Amino acid sequence: PTPIIFDCDPGLDDAIALAMALHSPELDIKAVTTSAGNQTPEKTLHNALGLLTLMQRTDIPVAGGAHQPLMRKLMIADHVHGETGMGTTKLPTATIQPHPLNAVELMAKILRESDTPITLVVTGPMTNAALLLSQYSELKAKISRIVFMGGGIDGGNATPAAEFNIIVDPEAAEIVMQSGVPLVMAGLNMTHQALVMADEVEQIRAINNPVAKAVAEMLDFYLPLYLSGPRKLPGAAMHDPCVVAWLLKPELFTSAHYWVGVETQGKYTTGMTVADVYNLTGNTPNTEVLLNVDREGFVKLLMERVSLY
Ligand code: BDR
Ligand code: CA
Repeated sequence: PTPIIFDCDPGLDDAIALAMALHSPELDIKAVTTSAGNQTPEKTLHNALGLLTLMQRTDIPVAGGAHQPLMRKLMIADHVHGETGMGTTKLPTATIQPHPLNAVELMAKILRESDTPITLVVTGPMTNAALLLSQYSELKAKISRIVFMGGGIDGGNATPAAEFNIIVDPEAAEIVMQSGVPLVMAGLNMTHQALVMADEVEQIRAINNPVAKAVAEMLDFYLPLYLSGPRKLPGAAMHDPCVVAWLLKPELFTSAHYWVGVETQGKYTTGMTVADVYNLTGNTPNTEVLLNVDREGFVKLLMERVSLY
């Protein structure tokens, strides 16, 4: 199995991504770490502990990360994920405590002690990843790649140019993008194709195990935001689960390699991921940018993994 560290800010779609990952035999999850993003750092850590309890993976260490972006004031997405970050879903009381190390220290310890390189999965702002790369640069070679949900090459969702995870901490994202570690980017241009439709929410509910029921309840909260949102999508965009789907079944996706940088000082475009699609800069591509996803194959995989509980 592929060893991974899963850095997230749960968050409804982060929770669904964890549901897909936690019992997938293809993955060896060394730790779940949390970032400040969709909700405050206290709440995203609390949710991660509750989710691992619900999903019966209390054997995995969970560590809380940075409390704020590198240089900016934290911006949260309670309008999307609710007051707790979990919509209306009540998680069980966690039976585990956070790891005594913080997220960045735990990541470093795991990488240092590992004989094989580890994939870093990031489905929230990149603050923890950037701190890891800058404070422990000697461990870079131990990171096989960073697979992240963030950015996009056709506009944003937080501003016309910027996606939420990137605009929360653009300086961190730019550190990651220019780190030299191989990158895979699941951005909005692709995740807006990974839709779960209303009838599919009912199919998930009908799987009728505790995790399937929780996922369906999360989607009950999340789907209407997309149906009535500015893009008028016909379903709920499963941003973060796309990262897990790519790890499990890359054949569901098409991609291209581009150089990508993050705008940190734009008048209108701060937080934009600028992709050099035509290689106008001559810069060596640093990112495999996911372009298209087989929607039906994705939903089938999601249902299959949620059935494992
Ligand atoms: C990203 O922002 C968050 O609200 C989601 O969890 C996802 O990671 C989508 O822009
Ligand atoms: Ca997220």
